[in-house]
Amino acid sequence: MDTQQFDPAAIDAAARALEAGALVAFPTETVYGLGADAENPAAVAAIYAAKGRPQDHPVIVHLAPEAPLDYWACGIPPEARALADAFWPGPLTMILKRAPNIPDAVSGGQDTVGLRCPSHPVALALLRAFKGGRGGVAAPSANKFGHVSPTLARHVQDEFGADGSVAMVLDGGASQVGIESTIVDLSRLDTHGPVLLRPGHISAEAIAAVIDRLPGAPDAAAPRASGTLESHYAPHTPVAMQERAALLETVAALHGAGRKVALIHTSDMPLTHAALRLPAAPDGFAHALYAALRAMDGQGADVILVEAPPQDGDWLGVNDRLRRAAHGSTGIVHGLLNTKV
Ligand code: TXA
Ligand code: MG
Repeated sequence: MDTQQFDPAAIDAAARALEAGALVAFPTETVYGLGADAENPAAVAAIYAAKGRPQDHPVIVHLAPEAPLDYWACGIPPEARALADAFWPGPLTMILKRAPNIPDAVSGGQDTVGLRCPSHPVALALLRAFKGGRGGVAAPSANKFGHVSPTLARHVQDEFGADGSVAMVLDGGASQVGIESTIVDLSRLDTHGPVLLRPGHISAEAIAAVIDRLPGAPDAAAPRASGTLESHYAPHTPVAMQERAALLETVAALHGAGRKVALIHTSDMPLTHAALRLPAAPDGFAHALYAALRAMDGQGADVILVEAPPQDGDWLGVNDRLRRAAHGSTGIVHGLLNTKV
């Protein structure tokens, strides 16, 4: 797989590769995406194969700002157009009713489609070059299923460099936002109102300020979203999250038991095997989070301990990702303290 810097020739080559049915990884302001022509079911199937992702999980279709929404979705409510005006290009994905001409490969067999117009200049240039700006690029995050999303081209190389499934990755530097887009379901507005399927940089309150309705929590009948699986965004090393006071005790106990601790923290902490200090504000923390998880995953530690951020609304997206990264590691600290090194 070639890593290409951002220049017109690379954008052109990437657009032609997509048109030919190949997979191209590209930067967005949230995370890097693994792209394919959304209207080519074989190319979309190649994304699922490369990621090791179940076939019934829908992918987001990325559009240029000029692309006509009505080509992709039908029964588009005025709320969707208002949100697109307010937040596109940007980190918001809308779930709408799928237009009949759109292959169901992108929606995992559901009758909806997820649409987003990203703001990263490389993504915008690619979307404008692909099929003359009228195409859609299906792109989940460019990581193996369940693993941490990539925020650097190097992360994509680490995920797919060995297996030859990805034709090229465009390098656009570090993703600014750092966690995946906010997903709001508007496909059942009449009966269920707007529903927040995945929290992100654009908050429910910011959405409510535009459409006058606060998105609710998903119910059992809400469209499935793989980023909403309990265990997701997880490194290989177990992750545990604790507030500062408990964390200090845990670090001391683990050290006493001869364990290696990798720490992701925001306040002063004792020296550990490995550590990264992140900004104590939600945007800065989100920006650095996935790179930090990847870096701490590579330290040969027994556990990655994360200093729990505050529980307030600004931290919703970060807390959501951390909770999923830590899922499946319940009892890990207890286990490490009660088994011999
Ligand atoms: O920020 C992002 O959204 C990144 C960048 C690359 O744009 N993409 C991303 O894709 O996070 P992915 O596939 O890792 O997560 C997309 C989420 C999944 O949870 C998927 O189930 C949901 O969007 N989704 C996509 N289309 C949907 C649909 N029609 N109905 C319900 N959920 C949908
Ligand atoms: Mg993903």
